[in-house]
Amino acid sequence: MQESKPPSIQMLSKKRKVLDDLEQPGRKSQAAPASQQSLNVAASDDSHFRHLYDRELDFKQLAEKDVDFAAVLQENGHLDFTEPKAVMQLTKTLLSLDFNLKLKLPDDRLCPPVPNRHNYILWLKELVDTSSYEPPGRPACGLDIGTGASCIYPLLGTTQRPSWRFVATDIDEKSLQYAKENVALNHLENRITVLGRQPEDTLIPLRGRESEKVFHIDFTMMNPPFYESEDDMLSSAQSKVRPPHSACTGAPVEMVCEGGEIAHISRMLEESLVLKEEVQWYTSMLGKARSVETLVDKLKANGIDNYAITEFIQGNKTRRWALGWSFGPMRPAEHVARVKTSGWKKVSPPVLAIEVLSLHPGRSIDHAITRINEVMRSLELLSWNWDTDARKGTGRTRENVWSRASRRKKMRDQSTSFSVLSSAAPGSDPVQCRLGFDVAVEMGVPTTTVTVHWREGHDAVMFESLAGFLQGKLKDLG
Ligand SMILES: C[S@@+](CC[C@H](N)C(=O)[O-])C[C@H]1O[C@@H](n2cnc3c(N)ncnc32)[C@H](O)[C@@H]1O
Repeated sequence: MQESKPPSIQMLSKKRKVLDDLEQPGRKSQAAPASQQSLNVAASDDSHFRHLYDRELDFKQLAEKDVDFAAVLQENGHLDFTEPKAVMQLTKTLLSLDFNLKLKLPDDRLCPPVPNRHNYILWLKELVDTSSYEPPGRPACGLDIGTGASCIYPLLGTTQRPSWRFVATDIDEKSLQYAKENVALNHLENRITVLGRQPEDTLIPLRGRESEKVFHIDFTMMNPPFYESEDDMLSSAQSKVRPPHSACTGAPVEMVCEGGEIAHISRMLEESLVLKEEVQWYTSMLGKARSVETLVDKLKANGIDNYAITEFIQGNKTRRWALGWSFGPMRPAEHVARVKTSGWKKVSPPVLAIEVLSLHPGRSIDHAITRINEVMRSLELLSWNWDTDARKGTGRTRENVWSRASRRKKMRDQSTSFSVLSSAAPGSDPVQCRLGFDVAVEMGVPTTTVTVHWREGHDAVMFESLAGFLQGKLKDLG
């Protein structure tokens, strides 16, 4: 086995609730808002942002901190969500207190609810982080397609990730003008580029007319116009008892497109089929569950097996979803890619984490760690590196080297001079990794588990086979 330099990986967060949302109505936040100083955070401080809206918003507390919010709060402590001015002030107040961001919005454009938009950014951070061997917070350039007047995603993304940059596009002149103002208001001109597009232009400006301006994009994001027609939008707005065309619902130019969200996301898919690995992740938010199914079918029909789905739950009623796909081999973590709630099994991507051992209290963890390393070192992997602090090892292999047939072949080769010729000398072979994986010892109460995580490659059968092999090798330790 060739021992190569370990890929630097930080412990990926364990099974936990990822996208706990939050619609603004009625939510109270007890988390302390970020102070001006603490906002200049590194990726390692992500937990601050992750838990910002875990609890319901506390309007009284917000009013104490912001006189402008106090002015729109009703005497009984409620916020009138049918009143665009009140909704807009809530957005401004949250952006200011929690992210130190300033916002200017016209009355006739969409006013983004902060917790929902924040959810998408939280998910993207984990999608980008976990689908790489680099430590969390690697530099990345995002493309926000249809950024709106607020430019909210790039503002939130750059605030939370000092190494992220954005290109923000729109086709609506008024939105573009405000988006530019909001970037300038927050002194982010050197990290966010606002780009005007025509409706007939490609959604991803890596080719053609604007190609000289945008050279590289790591991920795309999009909150597409959900509705197929203005009637569709108005009836939805009426059911929410909000004034039509208010700051809450957005203008038709923002909310309606021919074919609705499926058509818009399908455009992104078509473009991705040309650009492929030029962009690592193509993502979009969705407003309808059945659209997720339709689009996953399209991904599969195009042979795309590396994708991720998540659900944003907002209050009791409103749900949103996000879908991301990649042509690359790096896979996101299980909790990032697969929706846990029932009914999603059929559309979810293949399993990305398999528990292979459950250690009962009193059993030696060190013994399990020694065994894992013995087993892995006995295989002819491209590399195997154990991280003692994280209690986790990372392996990469070019083929199935744990099957009986493969181990028999290895023994045969070792007993003949042929083995000298056939064992790849370091650097002599074009290294093609078919499977990258982590074996992690995850401490829990009362049980500690060993889980295999799929990190790289497109072969689900090979990943499951490795997990089955390891399960067999560890089963007497349980
Ligand atoms: C639902 S709004 C989202 C605004 C903002 N991103 C948010 O989440 O609040 C959709 C936006 O997409 C823009 N849009 C529609 N078609 C577009 C296209 N072909 N290219 C870029 N933006 C487009 C609209 O003008 C609108 O600002």
